[in-house]
Amino acid sequence: MTAPRSIGTGPVGVGIIGAGMISDQYVANLLKCPDVRVVVIGDLDPDRARAKGELYGIEWGTPDAVLGHPDVELVVNITIPQSHAEVSMAAIAAGKHVWSEKPITAHRAIARTLLTAAARAGLLVGVAPDTNYGPGLQTARRVIARGDIGTPLSAQTAIQYPGPDLFHPNPEFLFSAGAGPLFDIGPYYLTALAHLFGPYAQVSAVGSIGHARRTIGTGPRAGATFPVTVPTHISAIAQFASGAVSQSLISFDSPHSRISFEVIGTEATLSVPDPNKFGGTVRITPKVGIEDVDSGAEPVWTDIAQEPERFGRGAGVVDMARCIRGGGTPIASGELGYHILDVMASMAESIESGRTVDMTSSISPIPMLPEGWDPYEQTIF
Ligand SMILES: NC(=O)c1ccc[n+]([C@@H]2O[C@H](COP(=O)([O-])OP(=O)(O)OC[C@H]3O[C@@H](n4cnc5c(N)ncnc54)[C@H](O)[C@@H]3O)[C@@H](O)[C@H]2O)c1
Repeated sequence: MTAPRSIGTGPVGVGIIGAGMISDQYVANLLKCPDVRVVVIGDLDPDRARAKGELYGIEWGTPDAVLGHPDVELVVNITIPQSHAEVSMAAIAAGKHVWSEKPITAHRAIARTLLTAAARAGLLVGVAPDTNYGPGLQTARRVIARGDIGTPLSAQTAIQYPGPDLFHPNPEFLFSAGAGPLFDIGPYYLTALAHLFGPYAQVSAVGSIGHARRTIGTGPRAGATFPVTVPTHISAIAQFASGAVSQSLISFDSPHSRISFEVIGTEATLSVPDPNKFGGTVRITPKVGIEDVDSGAEPVWTDIAQEPERFGRGAGVVDMARCIRGGGTPIASGELGYHILDVMASMAESIESGRTVDMTSSISPIPMLPEGWDPYEQTIF
């Protein structure tokens, strides 16, 4: 849970490892959060580290310079997924708390070793996504909790578009083991479902590769092609320990783009904002009558709330900082990150085997954030 207000002693020193595309969002947001102090950014590529360091007026250097920096208490690991384990383990070995981009690692055993090492050292691990800290999902949770849709029974989620080779200048890692849509964008939808329904009990999935090779669509390497080695279209179903069920489409193989997230209750259906964003519109549509079923009329949606994106990536880092100073466990905890990895790895196994997989990991119900939770507020003095 989040820490109490007004805690000491001074902002938590943050070091960033990974000066790529997403680092701009993290650094720009964290510089606005008084509970953390961004000290240094490092990358294997010194030019990238220097460019970001100079842009944001922070120190820059090698990954080792970040790990060895005396003012860094919390390492933000925003390297590519294939490097997450190595960088997070090095941070723990250096005595630093770790926030990792998703997935925590690509392999359950390595992730468990990492969490065990952190626990032994008394260090916290947090794992993206932190979009679920945003008012979009939090408001949806409050609407469900006050009973507006009756008892939630099931969910249908879809994220489909042509794929990140459209916009990422170095997209190969997104079509390789450890990524693909299941591990790259799946965490947003699968984690949001865990917020709503609690721990997963059983999953299964089918998957396919729509294009054996992809073409880089932007940047200095535009036009270069590369092979695809993981499924790029996944249809997954899940049953939760609560008895609720979900079906999720996760695809880089769709010529058109669509994002939808509906929670179906006994009395009404809720449209939840995109869990890859921090805000959005929460809508409800009521139970239909026989005449609507007969006419096949489209559902009529009523807006319940239009939530702005009041903050962005880095919210989970601030939650961690408050827990480092004040105690407690961040919402986007290492155990949640592990459970979602287990879900995705089990779905990947199901694609291979054609069988349903029983989950061996679990989580406690994920608490809602206090209303008005704000990473820009100063709580550490
Ligand atoms: N790009 C996005 O829109 C986006 C959005 C949300 C989350 N993410 C996640 O953020 C992470 C980074 O994505 P990105 O798009 O910024 O990738 P990127 O390829 O643009 O940048 C990654 C950086 O990490 C560095 N790096 C790789 N291995 C390293 C290591 N062992 N030590 C130090 N540096 C290393 C690379 O040199 C590179 O500069 C990924 O996990 C991705 O899933 C990206």
